[in-house]
Amino acid sequence: MDESIEEQDNLSQEMKEMILSLPRERGWRTPYLYLFQGFWCQPAEIQAISTFQNHFQAKKSDVFVATVPKSGTTWLKALTFAIINRQNHFISSKNHPLLSFNPHDLVPFIEYTVYGKHDKIPDLSNIQEPRLFGTHIPFDSLPNSIKDSNCKIVYICRNPFDTFISSWCFANKIKPPHLPTLNLEDAFEMYCNGSVGFGPFWNHMLGYWNESKERPKNVLFLKYEDMKEDVHFHLKKMAEFFNCPFTLEEENEGVVENIIKLCSFEKMKELEINKIGTFGRNFENKHLFRKGEIGDWTNHLSPSMVDKLSKVIEEKLGGSGLKFRMK
Ligand code: A3P
Repeated sequence: MDESIEEQDNLSQEMKEMILSLPRERGWRTPYLYLFQGFWCQPAEIQAISTFQNHFQAKKSDVFVATVPKSGTTWLKALTFAIINRQNHFISSKNHPLLSFNPHDLVPFIEYTVYGKHDKIPDLSNIQEPRLFGTHIPFDSLPNSIKDSNCKIVYICRNPFDTFISSWCFANKIKPPHLPTLNLEDAFEMYCNGSVGFGPFWNHMLGYWNESKERPKNVLFLKYEDMKEDVHFHLKKMAEFFNCPFTLEEENEGVVENIIKLCSFEKMKELEINKIGTFGRNFENKHLFRKGEIGDWTNHLSPSMVDKLSKVIEEKLGGSGLKFRMK
């Protein structure tokens, strides 16, 4: 029995019973993860996602920042916000919202924030367009309203070695104190078996990867390593995808470079809001900014772990054409 579910006043009785009927595995920062619609999910998010699926009405101007957790969500949200709102919020303004708000406040998560207040269905009809939302929900579980509309989904994932280390460090930083520390070996087994939030990671990536091939005007598939290698090129690609390409004048004025600087790891990590602010009541923003590097896994994983995860990647993603730079 998962007592933590009984203690969650915000879940309806019907939802609690449904969740308790699902397969479950040990969680990373909750006692358990549950297998809901083919992906592993924390209980509170299951209710939020169900409400989202039943009630969300997409608008064709909507923009979704969809990501595998710990793949660069915060960065991609910041870039998306800055690009899309650059006419209302000049990038070099001292009052730019990204200087006083964390990107997760400006591009709220569907499952934690927008639909996270379980006692009411949010009224999203009056939000200024384009509405920007973030989500970790796998493509197959997005509501049809989004899949059938013309809205834009920008997606990012990251090489699974770094994603795993980033997830493991983050989970131990923000887990409630009563849960035991998750050791590297246990977390690694869970990750390779697919039981990690919104995982298995390979299904998550393949869902958006395949859709980006089918509908490239609606789904832009990005990789953290490519962004790090040439952020200028990818920023321009994003702006074109959002139908707001940079003009020559903007390029000459340094707008692209200024967005890159504003959203850089070094700049964001040092902002007051990201040093002392909190994400809801759940954790401190500072934990969202750790190293921001490619290849930190080499400092943590043993040769046998590298071998094992390499085999999982080859088995699950080998035929897809999806490849990653590992370091
Ligand atoms: P590390 O833990 O490897 O340092 P997410 O935003 O999806 O939670 O991903 C977190 C990862 O992105 C962390 O990786 C974090 O340091 C890195 N990150 C955060 N902000 C970034 C930025 N502006 N540029 C590049 N990487 C960033």
